[in-house]
Amino acid sequence: MRQTLVAGNWKMNGSREENRHLLDGIKAGLSEGVGAEVVVCPPAIYIPQVARRLNGSGITWGGQDLSLHESGAYTGEISAAMLWDYQCRYVIIGHSERRSLHGETDAQVAEKFLVAQKVGLTPILCIGELLEEREAGETEAVVARQLDAVIDASGIQAIAGSVIAYEPVWAIGTGKTASPQQAQDVHAFIRQRVATQNTDVAEKVQILYGGSVKPDNAAELFAMADIDGGLIGGASLDAEGFLAICRAV
Ligand code: 13P
Repeated sequence: MRQTLVAGNWKMNGSREENRHLLDGIKAGLSEGVGAEVVVCPPAIYIPQVARRLNGSGITWGGQDLSLHESGAYTGEISAAMLWDYQCRYVIIGHSERRSLHGETDAQVAEKFLVAQKVGLTPILCIGELLEEREAGETEAVVARQLDAVIDASGIQAIAGSVIAYEPVWAIGTGKTASPQQAQDVHAFIRQRVATQNTDVAEKVQILYGGSVKPDNAAELFAMADIDGGLIGGASLDAEGFLAICRAV
């Protein structure tokens, strides 16, 4: 039985004041527990604030990206060890906004995956197709290519120590959620792809759905057999909304 995971990707949002309200709201709302592991991924500069406020709460936190490099002359970059230093458990890798806005390639994403695991962070590996790729019937080919890049570099066992997030790019921030069946079909394909190499790993790996998950659609998405939780953008910035999604598990 896979543990459900709900992760909030705050992207480039928040302020110390807003974060205080949001974190206190989430903590208060989760004090009686929910059936999911809950993670928040704030902008890097707020990780120390989040670490202080969530310490001992049972809610875990992570980064939104990391550098390929361990240390050195890489102005503006944040290393895996720095995230680890602030007790991050997770790090988002290969988000479509990093792929499209910063030109991250499959090979770089695969390398970041390795770098994260090397220090003990659990990568949340984002994969997903563009609208034109879906319309051209290329969804499976795209997610297979993105996934295989990581498996080829890290080996299939490394997938067991990671989380995969299927995020169709056309559903991110658009209010257009994949239907539960559309999402389930791709999740099942991803699990099957892993299973061709190792059925135990396929059974174990959590596959999250991301893309316009809201309180009113979370329950039906999470009810699908191969959807093990969500990676939530916009709706994770509001405590009540995020809590409602966590409770939809
Ligand atoms: P939205 O929930 O805002 O669509 O964002 C999804 C996402 O990109 C999470 O990483």
